[in-house]
Amino acid sequence: MMRGVSDHNVATPVHVAIIMDGNGRWATTRGLPRIMGHRKGADSVRRAIQAASDCGVSYLTLFAFSSENWNRSKDEVGEIMRLLRYYLHSETEELHAKGVKICVVGDRTKFDKETVGLIELAENKTFDNKQLTLVLALSYSGRQEITWAVRAIAEDAVQGVLNLDEINEDLVSNYLLTRDIPDPDLIIRTSGEQRISNFLLWQSAYTELVFVDQLWPDFQEKDFQAAIEEFGTRERRYGRTVENR
Ligand code: IPE
Ligand code: IPE
Ligand code: MG
Repeated sequence: MMRGVSDHNVATPVHVAIIMDGNGRWATTRGLPRIMGHRKGADSVRRAIQAASDCGVSYLTLFAFSSENWNRSKDEVGEIMRLLRYYLHSETEELHAKGVKICVVGDRTKFDKETVGLIELAENKTFDNKQLTLVLALSYSGRQEITWAVRAIAEDAVQGVLNLDEINEDLVSNYLLTRDIPDPDLIIRTSGEQRISNFLLWQSAYTELVFVDQLWPDFQEKDFQAAIEEFGTRERRYGRTVENR
């Protein structure tokens, strides 16, 4: 059986991931600077965490900043980084009190010292929490993650600590940043865009995709619940037929 894949249909997904898109459009349609959309989006993050917790989801991954997003204007990137630091600073304690374990996946070398410090503080403080694992994908790129894994596998093979016949799908999964996290059952993308944008490429092989029209700042708990309901109607076949599943 494939890693992170259950052999029966379960109504509640174990792992939900969200591509939080549409902050900029939310702001510009109101004649506001884009950063106002990002700020407003932070409220939706709180709602999504609450909704995931209420629905009994065990893992919630939020795509908050992609490796490609570094190519936006210096102003916007600076504001998003400021907002990220503010969020980590102000929310970690409350998330900890709610039993949320915070993990960050992405290229940490791109962040300044202060941001790395806040990320490590949040991860260390919440390390033992069990209620919900909140995975923040920050400076994250699926292709980069796979490339890093390929490099590390090659290095171990060259060093002789890994035999070529040991390289299988499970081993590759274990070289990814998400090694301790099951594959997502459901990916939700807001704002009407219907693409993956370099998110969890390896892990989403058999993930159900739900695209919603709401812009991220407008995303409500009921929208999360509706996506979970939609997931419940999907038939996951993993390449088999209904008869031999
Ligand atoms: C998503 O909203 C947040 C980030 C990518 C940081 P956008 O900023 O992409 O919003 P749109 O897509 O321009 O509306
Ligand atoms: C994907 O959104 C990344 C995040 C939501 C963090 P983008 O807005 O960057 O994606 P594209 O450029 O529309 O594909
Ligand atoms: Mg966007």
